[in-house]
Amino acid sequence: MTENDFVPKGYTSQSERGKVTWKAPSNIALVKYWGKKENQIPANPSLSFTLDTCSTKTTLSYIKHKGIEEAGFSFELFFEGEPKDDFRPKIELFFKRTEYYLPFLKDYHFKIETSNSFPHSSGIASSASGMAALSLCLMDLEKQLAPEMDTNFMYQKASFLARLGSGSACRSIEGDLIQWGAHSEVQGSSDLYGIPYPFEVHEVFKNYHDTILLVDKGKKQVSSTVGHNLMQGHPYAVQRFEQAHQNISKLKPIFADGSLEEFINIVESEALTLHAMMMTSDPYFVLMKPNTLEIINKIWEFRKKSKSHLCFTLDAGANVHVLYPEFEKEIVHQFIKNELIVFCEKEQYICDRIGFGAKKLKTTNG
Ligand code: DP6
Repeated sequence: MTENDFVPKGYTSQSERGKVTWKAPSNIALVKYWGKKENQIPANPSLSFTLDTCSTKTTLSYIKHKGIEEAGFSFELFFEGEPKDDFRPKIELFFKRTEYYLPFLKDYHFKIETSNSFPHSSGIASSASGMAALSLCLMDLEKQLAPEMDTNFMYQKASFLARLGSGSACRSIEGDLIQWGAHSEVQGSSDLYGIPYPFEVHEVFKNYHDTILLVDKGKKQVSSTVGHNLMQGHPYAVQRFEQAHQNISKLKPIFADGSLEEFINIVESEALTLHAMMMTSDPYFVLMKPNTLEIINKIWEFRKKSKSHLCFTLDAGANVHVLYPEFEKEIVHQFIKNELIVFCEKEQYICDRIGFGAKKLKTTNG
């Protein structure tokens, strides 16, 4: 598939007005996307678990303009029931980037109503789930204009569009393990969209848990766009991108065999490498907080003592994702409650687990 395969050849049907609702999940990267080229092309492939609880619900209402075409995009934006002008530039940019692939965008007035399952000020980025949900709503409208479109293509194009909104969003359409970015050993992998991981995955990874410890609920210190740009000319960029390819290769037998020790090694190393890249960029940043390190040390201590298989990963912030298999959930929950939540802001954390992708909630026509 190339970009041009996502340009529609014309529509066979019409829709004057209607309303669609989709819920899309967040995702947590095991192999991290950090660094990008022009047009949201990743500098290296990444791999993520799709989550279940953390999600964004978006309703897109649309009404076709009568008569002359509008010069710009026409839309209103509501976040959790309130008008939200702060999000306008991001949506405007998303529409600009996707207009070539969605030529109907200027034919309609849109009302976008969105809400998150997690608290707004949780430090959890909603761009992945938000862009995924909006892309699916737009693809739902496109499917009404082209009813012959097959479902696989619809999901693939939703991932392609979501990527143009926010890179990691392309991994939030389907589940439960998604790869984005071309890799020589992963057939079907592409820089343009995410694909369900095409190889064998051991049972132990099927019900994985992710408890998100909210260490710092504030706004991100470095936006991901700024962060990605810091990889340009970064002294370790070439080696880092190569390492991501190698880690994806190494994970193939690990996923097949269910080798948790080796899985832990790669996942934790990826998280620390992501932060190492930020600490060694120009300008440099430390995005962990003292409590992030307290938690990491506690996890290492507990793992040694209990011989359990929990591990951590990090986003570009201070919060910690604690990953563990279903069969250890009791002891890990107990450990989190007893020893980790004291390091969270207001003792807040979110219990999530692997999920199976976005869901359509409603359509109304006419
Ligand atoms: C650290 O997808 O938020 O979470 O493409 O600029 O929107 P943009 O970046 P974004 O970057 C996510 C970076 C990360 C790692 C990952 O999810 O792979």
